[in-house]
Amino acid sequence: MAGDDKDTGKSLRPSRRNLLLGGGAAAVTLGAVGLAAKTLFSTTSVHVESFVTRGSGKSRNILVLTGSGRKGGNSDLLAEAFVQGAREAGHSVDVFACGQRPMVSCMHCGGCWSTGMPCVMEDSFSSLWPLLERAELLVLCSPLYWYSMSGHIKCAIDRFFPYSSKERPRDMAVREAMLLMVGETPLLRSFAGAAESYRQILGYKGWKDRGRLFVTGVDEFGAMRDHPALEKAREMGRLA
Ligand SMILES: Cc1cc2nc3c(=O)[nH]c(=O)nc-3n(C[C@H](O)[C@H](O)[C@H](O)COP(=O)(O)O)c2cc1C
Repeated sequence: MAGDDKDTGKSLRPSRRNLLLGGGAAAVTLGAVGLAAKTLFSTTSVHVESFVTRGSGKSRNILVLTGSGRKGGNSDLLAEAFVQGAREAGHSVDVFACGQRPMVSCMHCGGCWSTGMPCVMEDSFSSLWPLLERAELLVLCSPLYWYSMSGHIKCAIDRFFPYSSKERPRDMAVREAMLLMVGETPLLRSFAGAAESYRQILGYKGWKDRGRLFVTGVDEFGAMRDHPALEKAREMGRLA
């Protein structure tokens, strides 16, 4: 039997050389197992999935909605990089921080346009709707919250409701959109719900999908700093 002391005639006492070789092999094996485990189970494994299409090259009005409650957090850094790229390319960009200026969801009260304004409620939506009426490209930049876009950004989207009314006297200028997201998850499929919701919204509104960016494995405040995904976001801005 291979390895049997009687067959090989070798001593059972491990030599120093064998110990070193054995230790080395064990370390390599453990390292490989560790790496596999890290890839499979780690919450810090990072994937960046992105897709973007080139715009017309003309300067345009862009509105970025950010969706984090954490000012200067990971999705804010992603948004900042996008804005930097977009401004470099000569676009005019407004940023509306839904997490810092929270609004309630639509109350479905039926008061849309009754005052000449899209909504009768008096909250931060009063500052958002004029931006929606001039931005041609809408960028949604959200952390992943419970497999969806954050509630902060979702409430803002809910308030687009007046612009779906048949009797609307005016419309949003938005014709195209992009989605940028970041989450703690190591799995890209955790973004599937948000991506599908984005796809359906675009289908309903007839907006063109201009790009998507999903970044996994990012959780701690500042974890996005110097992250390679920032360059992707910047590029999306430049191509907007
Ligand atoms: C309320 C809440 C829900 C979250 N849900 C998820 C989730 O479903 N999946 C995930 O991967 N990360 C989840 N996270 C983690 C954030 O996506 C992650 O920390 C992200 O980097 C935060 O980005 P920010 O700094 O822009 O807020 C959640 C965080 C919070 C506060």
